[in-house]
Amino acid sequence: MPLKDKKSYKPCDLIIYGALGDLSRRKLFISLYRLENANLLEADTRILGVDRHDNDNAVFTAFVLKNLQEFLNDKIENSVWQRFSARLSYLKIDLTQQDQYLQLKAVLTPHTRVAVNYFAVSPVLFKNICHGLQHAGVLNQESRMVMEKPIGHDLQSCKEINDAVAKVFSEAQVFRIDHYLGKETVLNLLALRFANSIFTTNWDHNTIDHIQVTVAEEVGIEGRFEYFDKTGQLRDMLQNHLLQILTFIAMEPPVNLEAKSIRNEKIKVLEALRPITASNADEKTVRGQYSAGFLKGSAVPGYLEEDGADVDSSTESFVALRVDIDNWRWAGVPFYLRTGKRMTHKRTEIVIYFKQLPHNIFGDSFRELPQNKLTIHLQPNEGVDVQILNKVPGIDEHIKLQKTKLDLSFSETFKKSSIFGGYEKLVLEAMRGNPTLFLSREEIEQAWIWVDSIQDAWQHTNETPKQYQAGSWGPVASVALLARDNRAWEE
Ligand code: BG6
Repeated sequence: MPLKDKKSYKPCDLIIYGALGDLSRRKLFISLYRLENANLLEADTRILGVDRHDNDNAVFTAFVLKNLQEFLNDKIENSVWQRFSARLSYLKIDLTQQDQYLQLKAVLTPHTRVAVNYFAVSPVLFKNICHGLQHAGVLNQESRMVMEKPIGHDLQSCKEINDAVAKVFSEAQVFRIDHYLGKETVLNLLALRFANSIFTTNWDHNTIDHIQVTVAEEVGIEGRFEYFDKTGQLRDMLQNHLLQILTFIAMEPPVNLEAKSIRNEKIKVLEALRPITASNADEKTVRGQYSAGFLKGSAVPGYLEEDGADVDSSTESFVALRVDIDNWRWAGVPFYLRTGKRMTHKRTEIVIYFKQLPHNIFGDSFRELPQNKLTIHLQPNEGVDVQILNKVPGIDEHIKLQKTKLDLSFSETFKKSSIFGGYEKLVLEAMRGNPTLFLSREEIEQAWIWVDSIQDAWQHTNETPKQYQAGSWGPVASVALLARDNRAWEE
């Protein structure tokens, strides 16, 4: 089965283009080290860092160690580091210079080892890398390429990137990462939904009232003003991570866990998203931008006061949407999605609200019976809980009810298992050659079609984003979005 943690994969070279860059520093080396620590890297796996600066293997190895010291929260074990560092080597290539890729010929042996080419650079370089690899003659049918967002900033630019890559790599060789698909609790949605009849049979418009997805971030834009200001939260977070979560919640049961089956079902959900256009964007969307405020007791600047900020920027750092899915299962069940930077605290969760019962015989306790709620906590503190109503123990004359929780905390229940971040799982799956958790071209392009329509609608209004104070739950208008439907965000 593709999702099973089988340990073996073919001898493999992981080549990281942009090995000195941000993604490598913050995510890739840490994930690879953690895989090493968990004995999940095969003994013959090699990791080759490629970047344009003069470095030798020793300097590169020291650089990786420094990054681990900075970003890894756990202690670095000497024996693990010895094993890990023995895999590392470095090659200087200016990625824009085709002839420099010829050096790879001396290092890679595509007939005996699978080359997994991780493009950890801006997409403007993707074409160069593809051509360079082709020119060097180091690719074969088993070679893979891994890329991740931003895969374009709209449908057109996404297609251009995909077309350029497709000239060199077939679709089966392309692994498009959305790191949320590597998160334990996102994957657990498959188990929760399709292995538990209690949920499988209660997962549609008959029993579910509405669904909320919140991805609240504490961080601001972390020195990335130039990138973020051209992107905005809709493209940075919603087009990918939130829509992926949505497809996992909403898709029909796939026939099995193969990549093709899962991707097909996800695409159907994306196709069924009701378009948000200029005619309904006002009632269905809220854009926000944070002003100065406080987080954990410290003052933080507003979006327009961030380093390098354009003071006239109207880029959104918060977005909330009401999303409708036009299919049989979800008719009449709104999905409310929201995500923002500089919110009260980091919290990613899905809350499924079940319908109210038609009649209340417990009026002494509640004038209206609170709805059952299934909450899936993605981060931090992964877990699942269900809010139920329970009788308060006692021999009173009246039955008194109280809201209680059936609570499953992953760290409590699965004490012995390590809970990895998204990258560990995905990097390993790329080395294993299992595409299940990666996005197909069709899927990502379909997501852009839907998001482009929102972006177009926003461009046609003169409205600027609503302000919200850093450290809050977003603009008041986001509360109003749900209040119009007599609902409220989970807080
Ligand atoms: C990235 C975005 O894809 O996801 C960042 O570019 C965002 O802006 C990050 O902060 C959030 O990821 P996580 O795993 O911390 O929720």
